[in-house]
Amino acid sequence: MNAEALYQRLVRPILFSLSPEAAHNLAIRNLRAISALPSVLRQLERFQPALSPRTVFGLTFLNPIGLAAGFDKNGVAIPAWAALGFGFVEIGTVTAKAQPGNPKPRIFRYPEQEALINRLGFNNDGADVVAARLRRLRESSRWPVIPIGINLGKSKITPIENAVEDYVYSFRLLAPLADYVVLNVSSPNTPGLRSLQEHAALVQLLAAIRRENETARKPVLLKIAPDLSIAELEQIIAACEQHGIAGIVATNTTLDHSAIPSARDQTGGLSGRPLRKKSTEFVRAITSRSSLPVIASGGIADAASAREKFEAGAQLLQVYTGYVYRGPGLLREIAQGS
Ligand SMILES: Cc1cc2nc3c(=O)[nH]c(=O)nc-3n(C[C@H](O)[C@H](O)[C@H](O)COP(=O)(O)O)c2cc1C
Repeated sequence: MNAEALYQRLVRPILFSLSPEAAHNLAIRNLRAISALPSVLRQLERFQPALSPRTVFGLTFLNPIGLAAGFDKNGVAIPAWAALGFGFVEIGTVTAKAQPGNPKPRIFRYPEQEALINRLGFNNDGADVVAARLRRLRESSRWPVIPIGINLGKSKITPIENAVEDYVYSFRLLAPLADYVVLNVSSPNTPGLRSLQEHAALVQLLAAIRRENETARKPVLLKIAPDLSIAELEQIIAACEQHGIAGIVATNTTLDHSAIPSARDQTGGLSGRPLRKKSTEFVRAITSRSSLPVIASGGIADAASAREKFEAGAQLLQVYTGYVYRGPGLLREIAQGS
């Protein structure tokens, strides 16, 4: 049985018989356990796509398909993701303080549309615990060769006026352990977070991180929402260019649920196929206005949607919802067809 068939016929039915969050936790628990088992890691390597190396913001990627933020929020299964063939992995969102996230249920599946809505609210172990975990992994022989990004967000209890200190705290701890850092100002599930995309607030954040990065000197990217106007996007691009940002991750989940009539009133961010077009438009809007490299995220679920992102000018791709529906075979399909 090939990877795609194994996932579709065996693994996915088991996972989809559980609630979305229970399925996620089961997958993460298994991948975490496997991460400590070299012989099983070697078995997973069957899923790996062909090499297609490239250098983006100074880092070498063996293939351009990465795991998007939010799948491995705490960085517990990094060796397994590398063995599965991801060209890079973005862990997080990590916040300065550990936090439980919003009440459950908080992830919802829409299989007909191959979509998800989530309102997790940055449930994570916090920057101190994640830094200690990554330090141990770096010191072991199991740190993978692929680039590891760390996605940072704001702790819920920190008032928005103090957001900069919150990001700086996490950045100071985690940037030395990362290959690149993403400032996430676009998740819809932390009140006020998206207001950090507004010009004055964004410039303050980017300037503070730039100062802090004088020691670590890591590529710092910004992850944006797909619910911005073109005027807002242009201001963001200008701020990124002026403040040494190395690239843009476009996009996060959308608040526009119109593609799923039954979910119009469901709170949270929509991801998967219904996000594809909008996120591609954002990739094109950025690459036509700037030479900043773009990591495309949003609705990549097969070779055609991946090709569309490259044609819009993306340098790298990230998958989340497509991987939930299609499984590990997705990477090979994209690599062969894009
Ligand atoms: C359950 C879930 C949790 C997510 N958590 C995060 C997160 O913590 N930080 C973040 O930047 N993006 C998060 N995302 C957004 C994804 O990284 C990605 O940008 C978005 O889902 C669009 O890609 P997709 O259509 O391939 O899923 C999450 C998405 C999902 C579905």
